Amino acid sequence: MSARERILTGDTPTGNLHIGHWVGSVKRRVELQDQHECFFLIANLHAYTTRADTPQDIHRDCIEVARDALAMGVDPAKAAIFLQSETPALAELTYLFAMLLPFNRVMRNPTLKDELQVKGLADNYSFGFPLYTVGQTADILAFRAHRVPVGEDQVPHLELTREVARRFNKMYCGVPDKAPDEEHEQLGGVFPIPIADVGEVGRLVGTDGVNKMSKSLGNAIHLTDTPKQVKKKIGKIYTGQDSRDPNDPGIIDPEKNPLFQYLDVFVECEDTKRDVRDRYERGDNIGDGEVKMLVADAINALLDPMRERRAAFEDDAVVLDILKQGTARANEATEQTLQMAKEVAGTGFFPRSVRFED
Ligand code: TRP
Repeated sequence: MSARERILTGDTPTGNLHIGHWVGSVKRRVELQDQHECFFLIANLHAYTTRADTPQDIHRDCIEVARDALAMGVDPAKAAIFLQSETPALAELTYLFAMLLPFNRVMRNPTLKDELQVKGLADNYSFGFPLYTVGQTADILAFRAHRVPVGEDQVPHLELTREVARRFNKMYCGVPDKAPDEEHEQLGGVFPIPIADVGEVGRLVGTDGVNKMSKSLGNAIHLTDTPKQVKKKIGKIYTGQDSRDPNDPGIIDPEKNPLFQYLDVFVECEDTKRDVRDRYERGDNIGDGEVKMLVADAINALLDPMRERRAAFEDDAVVLDILKQGTARANEATEQTLQMAKEVAGTGFFPRSVRFED
């Protein structure tokens, strides 16, 4: 990875961040911010896919998500945290990119289908719901980002993004049909073809032991949870059924037990991990209770410094000021891309800039 690569990633503000966000991407962001130009998006428009009727909650969640990212160690001196809704180039590129994608292609996205199913939306989703995936291609391409650190579930969105970039470059920039992805920019394409950089643990299972950890499913451990709440949530994990192989319920597989993913991810001592795993596989009288205690302690040890840092960002005005500065930087970057794109796509007439009032 070259030193000056630009990195873009983001979250839909669903409220407070949880440890699934930490292992899935925030941890990686904190590592990346030292060496790269980083932009961290708060995708508040995407929140309207399911919550358009509670705008004030979304507004508040933007501040919460920023506060939690800062608490987890994102440094505003190094990385820009910014708001999607105050970065107009993103919406404008979404409109343009939506024209480059067959409708059926958008609907084939497995993550999109999954969300519609998990959220029980069947035929009742808004027009904007599938549109958010196109919006995500704009979020990424507007920064001409080369690399997008995300969880595994976001990979289909990255695939869509790559398709949009290829199509745009071919249609409007004369990049030849068979051009290799890495050569698009050299060949005159506005957009690099970005790659998904999937973190070590792409998908942390929730405390229900079934679904991805997610606030809306009520199976998450939040940064704002007290040590006691963490213990309680870990204690409640139901492990019995999930340890069984669905094809052969007689076989108990420790890999199917969500506790073992937590053990792997949060417990640092390799010897402890090996020991616990060995004893469990041998059926050596190690109860889930003992593993749970280990895991809860490890999670609390991770959260403690974050809880402390969070206190420094308690004031909304402090967080809003950081967001405003970050969003100003995001606008600088995306307005430049937008202008390049509009020029070749025939929609550019009057150069402009975005400026916030003091
Ligand atoms: N869809 C992402 C999520 O589920 C949020 C997101 C929006 C995003 N735009 C993005 C992530 C661009 C990475 C890059 O939270």
